[in-house]
Amino acid sequence: MTTTASVPTSPPLRRHPMTRTLLGVGAVIMLAGLLFGYDQGVISGALDGIKRDFHVSTFVLEIITSWVTLGAMGGALVAGVLADRLGRRVTIVLASILFTAGALIEALAPGSVILVIGRLVVGFGVGVASVAAPLYAAEMAPARLRGRFVSLYQLAITIGIFIAYLVDYILSHSSGWRAMLGVSAVPAILLVLAMIPLPDSPRWYVKAGRRDDATRALKRVDPTENATSSLDEIQAAVDDDASKEAGWGTVFTAEWRRPLVIGVCLAVLQQFTGINAIIYYANQIFAAAGFNSPDSQSLATLWAIGAVNVVATFVAVAWVDRFGRKPLLMIGCTGMGLSLAVVGAMFIRLDHVNASTSASHGPTGEGIVTLVALVVFIACFAFSLGPVVWTIINEIFPAHVRGKAVAVATAANWFAAWVVSQFFLTLVSLITSTGAFWLFAGFCVVTFVFVQKMVPETRGRTLEDIQSMWGDPDELAAAMIEHR
Ligand code: BGC
Repeated sequence: MTTTASVPTSPPLRRHPMTRTLLGVGAVIMLAGLLFGYDQGVISGALDGIKRDFHVSTFVLEIITSWVTLGAMGGALVAGVLADRLGRRVTIVLASILFTAGALIEALAPGSVILVIGRLVVGFGVGVASVAAPLYAAEMAPARLRGRFVSLYQLAITIGIFIAYLVDYILSHSSGWRAMLGVSAVPAILLVLAMIPLPDSPRWYVKAGRRDDATRALKRVDPTENATSSLDEIQAAVDDDASKEAGWGTVFTAEWRRPLVIGVCLAVLQQFTGINAIIYYANQIFAAAGFNSPDSQSLATLWAIGAVNVVATFVAVAWVDRFGRKPLLMIGCTGMGLSLAVVGAMFIRLDHVNASTSASHGPTGEGIVTLVALVVFIACFAFSLGPVVWTIINEIFPAHVRGKAVAVATAANWFAAWVVSQFFLTLVSLITSTGAFWLFAGFCVVTFVFVQKMVPETRGRTLEDIQSMWGDPDELAAAMIEHR
């Protein structure tokens, strides 16, 4: 083994400018994930105070909770066009400004209508950032770091949810829902600050015909790389894409139907197994399980949901390439379904107790079992459906339809998240908590069967292999039965 090759790349020479730019890109992807997660998590602690101050019905409470996802669906759909026209950098800054404005509208809202408008604006910002930031990071990161940058985004979402729960807990004493929602302006402002010194991606500069800027950006990412040859490669890839660039019609042709059905169904099923009903309404669920002080509810939510989600996501990041997608999904669905079945069973008794006593009671045996089952549910989600669904969505489409097809699947995911969070409380009043949790458990069974029958194993295959597999029945059949 020769060591001379490593001499010019010794740390003091390489590290300086490259590390600063890449740290900046890391900060951008981290802050974008934090924004996404904070927004998913924060509402669970804010609902009580909003209900008290605005005297709103359950339905309005559901709108306040869920319309952030409708805004995000719109944002995700336009983000691709914005990122192409204005550049990734300007798009991310715009999303952060929108987000900050939305957070301030929420925090200062005099009534529920303005609050809902704030939620929509915030959601739109999150939706745009949820597409533009990973795209920017993927284009900025050298190939060897790309996977790690994408995992960083997953992890940041769960850390964002955890921080939101922590803020909810700290502010739960002072009915500080306005502060809980307003605090989300902080990561948004930090995101703008992180973005200012960074260039746009070399790929976007090339697309926009700005080769000099592209060279400068390439040098800042990795000064040891030969900028001219990298630039030629990017130019060739951009030209190739442009010649093949598919219209919306191509995305829906029979040729790509199978991956589109897989992407959209996985995106929807991920939500129909109830994850965001639990993330958003955790405090209410723990209240119904007998955790009667806001303090004990927030603590249960913080640790049982928030912390477990972060830790189990670490596990997924480590194992997803070793275990394969299908086994992780199928083991995860099994654990999720069983734990939801247990939660539903516990609520037969909990609903009965809640209906017959108005006096406060501490967490009963059933309440503790519910807490443990929810821990199992979150852990199983976080190592399976949470990250793996996004991995699959990003790898099953051929390059020329990927952008549009991923946008369709992402929008379907936000739409399904909206359906669940919009109707969860209504569902509970219609079919009881037990019915709602068993329904989610039923969707875990559907997801298990869908994965087994429809989803091929993609671990260890290159994107080109996956692309050709869709047109090759033998290859597809082999990938369907591969379990290791
Ligand atoms: C889902 C989000 C969810 C998060 C929880 C993501 O994979 O798409 O809807 O809130 O996981 O960690």
